[in-house]
Amino acid sequence: MSADFAALLQTIAAEVTALPPEGDVADYIPALARVAPDQFGIAVATVDGRLFRTGAADTPFSIQSISKLFALALALQREGDALWRRVGREPSGTPFNSLVLLERERGIPRNPFVNAGALVITDVLCRRFLQPERAVLEFVHRLLGRTSVGIDADVARSERRHSDRNAAIAHFMRSFGNLQAEVGAVLDAYCAHCAIAMSCAELAEAALFLAADGRQPGGARVLDAADARRLNALMLTCGAYDAAGDFAFRIGLPTKTGVGGGILAIVPGRLSVCAWSPRLDANGNSVAAAEALERFAAAAGVSIFG
Ligand code: DON
Repeated sequence: MSADFAALLQTIAAEVTALPPEGDVADYIPALARVAPDQFGIAVATVDGRLFRTGAADTPFSIQSISKLFALALALQREGDALWRRVGREPSGTPFNSLVLLERERGIPRNPFVNAGALVITDVLCRRFLQPERAVLEFVHRLLGRTSVGIDADVARSERRHSDRNAAIAHFMRSFGNLQAEVGAVLDAYCAHCAIAMSCAELAEAALFLAADGRQPGGARVLDAADARRLNALMLTCGAYDAAGDFAFRIGLPTKTGVGGGILAIVPGRLSVCAWSPRLDANGNSVAAAEALERFAAAAGVSIFG
């Protein structure tokens, strides 16, 4: 039986919410600028089926780039290793929405988590599915074993109306032959899957397969064990963009962040944990959620580095 994390989560929530607020909500997607900034939640799901939560752990928020993880897992299921001909596996050392490396690297994105890489993954899904964003959503439903999660249409529309930068990235990759669908279709699907709304508890539960060798506890195989391991490696090295080194140093776990303020972390073999708070640092990662995960990993002694 796993440890009881209830008291630890409460302590962390009390400590982190007592810190002076730092950072700002994402405002380049207007619908996200309206979110109340000082919310905080954290949830832990263990591979032996326990769920611990505190604060606003059941409040749905925009998962944004955390959806890139689900999109990648689904694309890997369908495409297998062929995927890696179109997207790399190296940290970029650049912001998530940067274009600078793409010219030198001939339209091959550094990794599947920077926007360029996630647009390539979404392009793969556009070829495989008539409604790629529904495919990502239904994949999440299968992971959860229920259909309680949806796409926030306002957030999707809001981002789509302000997607010049992602459009530039997509057109640029298309000029190198690394995007097959029409740019508009890829952006529609991408903005929609980024606009999936989920709570900390739902994200922790949905991502458990990454802590359990690619299998949802008690359920179906999602990925083979090797792909689950590789996904964790990518989260560790690339999941927080140019803060990935700092996150490995501070938290010591594979993580995936989103500009909605969520951060999901995996403790292989044991649990998944998701913290959420909307104020972001300059890298687009939640300040309070990172702080909470750092405290959790230290107090629970779960860093992958021992
Ligand atoms: O493409 C974008 O800019 C957003 N849909 C997602 C960015 C994001 O969440 C970056 N992560 N921290």
